[in-house]
Amino acid sequence: MKPADSNRPVKDGADAVLSVAGLGVGYFPEKGRRLEVVGGVDLDLRAGRTVALVGESGCGKSITAAALGGLLPPGMVRDRGEIRWRVGGDCSPGRGLAYVFQDPGECLDPVFTIGSQIREALPRAERRGAGKRLDRLLRTVGFEDPERVLASYPHQLSGGMQQRAMLAMALAGRPRVLVADEPTTALDVTVQAKILRLLAELQQLEHLAVLLITHNLAVVAEIADEVLVMYAGRIVEAGPVHILGNPRHPYVNGLLKALPQLGTGPARLEGIAGTVPPLGRRPPGCRFHPRCPLAQPVCREREPPLNGPGDGHRAACWVREAEGPT
Ligand SMILES: Nc1ncnc2c1ncn2[C@@H]1O[C@H](COP(=O)(O)OP(=O)(O)OP(=O)(O)O)[C@@H](O)[C@H]1O
Ligand SMILES: [Mg+2]
Repeated sequence: MKPADSNRPVKDGADAVLSVAGLGVGYFPEKGRRLEVVGGVDLDLRAGRTVALVGESGCGKSITAAALGGLLPPGMVRDRGEIRWRVGGDCSPGRGLAYVFQDPGECLDPVFTIGSQIREALPRAERRGAGKRLDRLLRTVGFEDPERVLASYPHQLSGGMQQRAMLAMALAGRPRVLVADEPTTALDVTVQAKILRLLAELQQLEHLAVLLITHNLAVVAEIADEVLVMYAGRIVEAGPVHILGNPRHPYVNGLLKALPQLGTGPARLEGIAGTVPPLGRRPPGCRFHPRCPLAQPVCREREPPLNGPGDGHRAACWVREAEGPT
């Protein structure tokens, strides 16, 4: 049966590598006081597929991703829901999951060579005599001169090269799941495209299940299979990526309207008035109601469930639900 606090589609995710059900993270600013950071998040990551997690700054994307690998910041606890690895063998969370973050320069240690840092990321038993493996990893992420790169220090590489090195490091542990949290935001536009293409290639090559966090809806439309839109800690719309062509939630409409359009004369950024409420100031009912152009009295009182007509497209909106399927 579908749990009440859940955004899981009807199918139960049995084919997923990693399944998350009803995930909730609390922040405890002081003893006995819990503020919800994220809640009721369901997520199924499948081999060779990309799920994109989108939403404005501060809505809980990075905390959701961090919770998967137990990397939550101090004061935060994953105290709701379940994370299940559905494959056996060596896919323990430590080895099965790898991260790539926004700023490779910050993740790489300036005092060690790229080679020694990637070697560290190899499973312990593979570190001795790892030359061939390192060479292959670097070639996999598009370096034609692995020896030179392995001997380099991070500051000797460009941002794009650093992010390739981070990808090589992520692949070193032979992950089943790759979590990429804004992997290209710190890079300039032409390099962004190359890294995203590489990510897509690696995913196919290594049969990875990818969770991609991004602000960029154009990227989502291009490379994701599924999309989850988060607002103030909750999933408000979810489904196959094509739902972005016909969104139901007013928040998602707002996000799409905020995209600059090419070729339509002077850019008009309609955006969404207001900002994501901080932890502890999230309103009751639908959390989006203070910013919502369609808000009704019910929206202030009760939180809408994430529902849909059964085709995988689900939205949490009382007004849209009352309107019926489009
Ligand atoms: N270390 C921390 N301590 C306390 N609160 C935090 C911490 N990190 C994040 N938060 C809060 O948790 C909420 C979710 O933050 P999160 O970093 O997941 O947002 P995000 O969706 O990843 O945003 P962005 O797009 O800016 O990366 C926000 O209200 C944020 O202020
Ligand atoms: Mg983030």
